[in-house]
Amino acid sequence: MTPGSDQGWVIAVCRDIPAAGVNLLRQAPEVGEVRVWPGELPPNRDELAGLLHGCDGAITLLSDRIDGSLLDREPQLRVVANYAVGYDNIDVSAARERGVTVCNTPDVLTHATADCAFALILATARRIVESVDFVRAGRWVTWGPQLLLGQEMYGRTLGIIGPGRIGTEVARRGTGFGMRLLGWSASGRLSDDARALGMESVELDRLIRESDVISIHCPLTPETRHLIGADELARMKPTAILVNTARGPVVDQLALAAALAEGRIAGAGLDVTDPEPPDPDLPLLREPRAVVVPHIGSATVGARDAMATLAAKGVLAVLRGQRPSNVVS
Ligand code: DGY
Repeated sequence: MTPGSDQGWVIAVCRDIPAAGVNLLRQAPEVGEVRVWPGELPPNRDELAGLLHGCDGAITLLSDRIDGSLLDREPQLRVVANYAVGYDNIDVSAARERGVTVCNTPDVLTHATADCAFALILATARRIVESVDFVRAGRWVTWGPQLLLGQEMYGRTLGIIGPGRIGTEVARRGTGFGMRLLGWSASGRLSDDARALGMESVELDRLIRESDVISIHCPLTPETRHLIGADELARMKPTAILVNTARGPVVDQLALAAALAEGRIAGAGLDVTDPEPPDPDLPLLREPRAVVVPHIGSATVGARDAMATLAAKGVLAVLRGQRPSNVVS
């Protein structure tokens, strides 16, 4: 055992995550202190630095920006485990240069997030939120032969941007709806799992032009920022639906709002926005064909427990000198 101080390892947890993870840390014999950020809101930059001060490891959230200047203030920090599969909030190269190991929480949230993406597809296609609002407003006076008409998804074309673990699971759900599957990945390759589902690897332009539903699952990188902008939206079918459960900045939100307002696409289902949360006065939030939910892709009891456990195990493993499978750097 090589604790960072005589009192044992000090570990910061940057929000009140499920007890499964915190308990694992607290029960580890080498751990002296677990500091859980008590706020409902994320720590600001100074508060984050204060929280991490003197820590050997940390469980961070996607709202915590971890970069070189922050890491320079805490040279004893050896591991940062992000409570998310995405880790665009962490400068991984800066961490690597400073000998800080970065972990994430892959796999355990795949089905929860794929379910959420498919829920957004159906909610958008069948105008579920508009329908609920209609009933709540007391406007349901009779069965309407032309009331709230939507689109069937059976047999339509589903385009997956970034067919990794989550994108492939969304595609698998699409096979239950008899959907034709197109996939585009930056590498130009599809996984064996995606190919086994019958997914065809295509250029991004073809995916955009031919899909009835486009579901985004790529990571946010400098290359994928605004991957879907005004030009791409203009090439989508007017009946198409765009779903984003990845990261908000992959879509140019202003261009999307304009496309929806002008009826150039049929709808959008967004679990993520840019920024998060969006300004409550953002016109996109009032757009009837936009179904916007507050980044709940992985928000199931099971997924969040498993994410907390995986992140905690990652921190402990690295501090014990092991290399867990969920290391990203
Ligand atoms: C992730 O894991 O990256 C999600 O956005 C939050 O679960």
